[in-house]
Amino acid sequence: MDARRELLHLRSAGVSFVLDVAPDVPLILHWGAALPDDESVLVALRDSAAPAVLDNAPNAPRVFSVWPSEYEAWAGTPALEGHVAGAATTPRPVLRDVEHEARADGGRIRLVLDDRLSGLRCTADYDLDPAGVLSAVLAVERDHSAGPEPYTVSALTALLPLPSAAVETLDFTGLWAGERRPQRSPLLDGLHLRRTRRGKPGQDSPYVMMCGERGFGARRGEVWSAHAAWSGDQRLLVERLPEGAGVARSVLGGGESLAPGEVRLAAGERYSTPPVLFAWSDEGTDGIARRFHDRLRRRERHPRSPRPLTLNSWEAVYFDHDLERLLALVDAGAGVGVERFVLDDGWFRGRRNARAGLGDWIVDEQVWSHGLEPLVQRVRAHGMQFGLWVEPEMISLDSDLARAHPDWVLGPAVGLGPPARNQYVLDLGRPEAHALVLARLDDLVSRHRIDFLKWDHNRDLLEAVSREDAGRPAVHRQTLAVYALLDELRRRHPGLEIESCASGGGRVDLGILDRADRVWASDSNDPVERIPIVRWTQQLLPLELIGAHIGDARAHTSGRVTDFSFRAAVALFGHAGIEMDLTRADPSTLRDLTAWAALYRELRPLLHSGEVVNGDPEETDPGTWLFGVVDPSGGDGVFLWARTASSGAGQSGRVRFPGLDPARSYAVRVRDEFGGALRNQAEDPAWVTRASMAPPVFPGAMLTTAGLPLPTLAVQQAMVLHFEAI
Ligand code: DGJ
Repeated sequence: MDARRELLHLRSAGVSFVLDVAPDVPLILHWGAALPDDESVLVALRDSAAPAVLDNAPNAPRVFSVWPSEYEAWAGTPALEGHVAGAATTPRPVLRDVEHEARADGGRIRLVLDDRLSGLRCTADYDLDPAGVLSAVLAVERDHSAGPEPYTVSALTALLPLPSAAVETLDFTGLWAGERRPQRSPLLDGLHLRRTRRGKPGQDSPYVMMCGERGFGARRGEVWSAHAAWSGDQRLLVERLPEGAGVARSVLGGGESLAPGEVRLAAGERYSTPPVLFAWSDEGTDGIARRFHDRLRRRERHPRSPRPLTLNSWEAVYFDHDLERLLALVDAGAGVGVERFVLDDGWFRGRRNARAGLGDWIVDEQVWSHGLEPLVQRVRAHGMQFGLWVEPEMISLDSDLARAHPDWVLGPAVGLGPPARNQYVLDLGRPEAHALVLARLDDLVSRHRIDFLKWDHNRDLLEAVSREDAGRPAVHRQTLAVYALLDELRRRHPGLEIESCASGGGRVDLGILDRADRVWASDSNDPVERIPIVRWTQQLLPLELIGAHIGDARAHTSGRVTDFSFRAAVALFGHAGIEMDLTRADPSTLRDLTAWAALYRELRPLLHSGEVVNGDPEETDPGTWLFGVVDPSGGDGVFLWARTASSGAGQSGRVRFPGLDPARSYAVRVRDEFGGALRNQAEDPAWVTRASMAPPVFPGAMLTTAGLPLPTLAVQQAMVLHFEAI
């Protein structure tokens, strides 16, 4: 082989991925900043890849391959863990075939390896997309000639090496109404493994695991990151061994988290990991977010129509469904400019509370004596879209479905464990259960010309074993069954939009987002809690995919009471909506809501296409937040400046606005037509006072490098700053 055929290079958007496919198991030579498209550089990379041979260590230099194993003396997490009846635990794959297709903006590599020891054909697929995101999918297929004993896959993990510069990690945890809380730690020797066992990523999902240079921040530092595009159980890990990983220092990767015996491959059967998406940037966490957003926005089915202002019935009426009341709510919504009405939980048989009805996706005739049509028609008469809440993966024991098919509930034959939110999980891996739910949903969508389904998922899949499948673990097949259900519904109804809800924020991943058009990021509409949730949810998702609603003055989750203007400013940053009983709102609130809705319509083209930028928290007071969206081609920018807690600093000092174009000038306006923010000060900075008469114009170079002094907001206040490029 000549070097060109041995050294494979994918390049895109400032990222390079380099493999050496000459050895029996190809080596990963580089993932990170782009290298020149120059063969001599790749040769030099290969020729310098052998580290010191250490004392008391293997006699050959260490390597790090696409399929790390004990054979390579890799003592960390291997690519493949599994066995055939307790044997064949030490894989020995050997390269058999290589496909390489390089494009100017990325390309793909497929490596096929044969492992005679375990009777598996192993495949590693890498795809570098135009956004610079590298997708890795590993797969194993049991030989047709293998014996009758199946191969049990315990774990299959896509791993990439990290350089010594990666010394800190940042990933996420959280809980209901407090999702995506960042947690940061030094990268130490050992395994930092985030493994979910909830049958969904969960409120504490690791989400995006990032490793970076010391002190990497929103806009600075090299960062390497991984996300598992999978809606079942998953694992993300970073691991460092004293001896390193080949010539690299540590490794980053992930895959699916499998239960014991969950995947057993008979002859001819195949298992593949979900896509593990790797993004690198030298522009901090915002640089990582930009790559994921770019990837998402290039999808054919990415939502591109204006994201309709939504009114959701949940916090307005909860289970208290009454046609007249809901018609009045729809009318009030139309009055303030609502464009989509969503009827939340409570519309189907027996669903007067959270204890019954799941599984019976038939309209409750006792509450809806004329069905849903009178409501749907009123919604349509106002020119709005109609949406409906469903929770298709769940079942209440108090339902006709559970009474007819008790064995369709996931759980051990010895008896079900405790319910969660009074409910259980429907075994969608059973073809007859899948067909029934599909038929009911299909009928609802067709009958009512439904535009939008809010797809909830309110419990963890604990003891999720299938009685149909001899009590074997069922999360993997359940996840695939849900994907198939969503895919088929969307195939039958191409215009249908779907929201991934899961108690608010419990299933936010790029597997479900291949089949959903937005997420309900949290059940918390409390702006103090929402600000960090939105700030970090947009680490992966652009704002057009993140539902953000204004709730009542007293947040239903936290009990905190906040001003309308604060709630409204925060809810602008997302796919906006309302979660209030508008029939009880006073005229001034309705006026403010109308002004806010108009501002949302004005700003959404920018909010839903621009680049997300975050102020560096180190630069501002700990009680304040600054984030925004800018048009990267030198157009407008819009920022949220908020104070969630009181603090020591009397004034903001100059605050820099990242992402604006230093070559342009901007007219700066405070957009407070929906109500102004309270201040803790005698007077605004002079430019803000002037702005109320005529927007002052400032050079972008000044705004990005020096910044502007901002009002000292009272606690729990926010303002929206609009930078219009002139
Ligand atoms: C949980 C969701 O997050 C809420 O928004 C609401 O839809 C309820 N479920 C309804 O049961």
